[in-house]
Amino acid sequence: MKKTRYLTGITTTGTPHLGNYAGSIRPSLAASRRAEVESFYFLADYHGLIKCDDPARIQDSTLKIAATWLAAGLDPERVVFYRQSDVPEIPELTWFLTCVAGKGLLNRAHAYKAAVDKNAESGVDADDGVTAGLFMYPVLMAADILAFSAQKVPVGKDQIQHIEMARDIAASFNHLYCAQQPLLVQPEFEVDEQVALLPGLDGRKMSKSYGNTIPLFAPREEMRKKIMSIQTDSKAPGEAKDTEGSALFQIYRAFASPAQTAAFAADFAAGIAWGAAKEKLFELIDAEIAPMRVRYAELIANPQEVEAILQKGAAKARAVAQPLVQAAKWAVGIRSLNYPVGQNAMFVTLPALQGYATGGQSQSAPPRFKQYREADGLFYFKLSNAGGEVLLQSTGFANPKDAAGVIAALKTQGAAALAAKAAQIAAQGDATAVQAALAELQAAEMAKN
Ligand code: TRP
Repeated sequence: MKKTRYLTGITTTGTPHLGNYAGSIRPSLAASRRAEVESFYFLADYHGLIKCDDPARIQDSTLKIAATWLAAGLDPERVVFYRQSDVPEIPELTWFLTCVAGKGLLNRAHAYKAAVDKNAESGVDADDGVTAGLFMYPVLMAADILAFSAQKVPVGKDQIQHIEMARDIAASFNHLYCAQQPLLVQPEFEVDEQVALLPGLDGRKMSKSYGNTIPLFAPREEMRKKIMSIQTDSKAPGEAKDTEGSALFQIYRAFASPAQTAAFAADFAAGIAWGAAKEKLFELIDAEIAPMRVRYAELIANPQEVEAILQKGAAKARAVAQPLVQAAKWAVGIRSLNYPVGQNAMFVTLPALQGYATGGQSQSAPPRFKQYREADGLFYFKLSNAGGEVLLQSTGFANPKDAAGVIAALKTQGAAALAAKAAQIAAQGDATAVQAALAELQAAEMAKN
């Protein structure tokens, strides 16, 4: 089954609260467990630098946010979980994208425009206090996405513009450098309208900027105190309570089964005292969060465990990003001088890269060489494609080393070696298929070096 590739970027600032958990972390992790998706999750710590210049906070938040997602159930065996700064291919691709991104496009970015507008209001220079990092934010974000050929990017509404910019930038790159066979996948955003927007302590949306949050992994007693401080009306015990417009009820519903929600509504109608209702809410949330709280504390106490998980994730992530960024570099003309000038077509027809361009790895296995010895005592090799079709067949060699030498030449020089070695090989397959197979092997060799 062809899986859809999802990519989720996590900002590494702030302390996660219940609203983040119910509205983003929990649904995102539930979605990642679907069989038909392949998920990439990463900590956007390079983006973090744009908002924060305190090194201790950068490090501390990275640990806390990583521990939060792991404790909340992110399975690093099942998804690819990594830290942006562990994947040097991302900043490398950022530069190639920077060179095709219109400055005018970036001028229109909401965050940059907001900063400029604010400066205008205060009567200072338009770019006062605006770093090039803030300006370039959308390009780095495009690289995050495009380096992995992500097809779907789940985001909040405020991020839609960034995904659209990533699409534009990908289109510019493809148009300029690989029009026949686009290398970069244009991602789509996915905004979940269903998701519970949790109200905060004062009934407004739970948000750090309102100071009305319930921290996700606060100690049990602290969480109880916070929940006890949720604002309610002044209805006395015994008086029927409205579920409509009740923050308490809405939060309860976000953690309850339909049956529990119905029972809670019945309690409201029967005039449950606010104190008792809050106690029920606290127990409900605590039942879900308590095991995670334990795991979170364990991870925070063992940062080396988190680091090891991130390093393993980075290796998986780089295995995907490297060939793509290698191809992008190749596409713009930054390549080994050993390679004949003017052979752009060779790279764009690479079957392996076509897989990346349509999202996900190519379904077909790479072509391969097989060496064997015949009854005549001589050593032979053949090159076959994924379907087992033989593309090249060698003549017999007295010495296996000589056979290996011809294979090495074909791998490293690609089709250029065909003429030189013509005496020792016979093409069996279609000439284009042979060339494509050799180009693919050559690219694989180059990626190794
Ligand atoms: N800008 C995103 C946010 O503020 C975080 C982010 C960075 C991101 N790179 C990304 C999200 C790539 C999705 C894909 O939430």
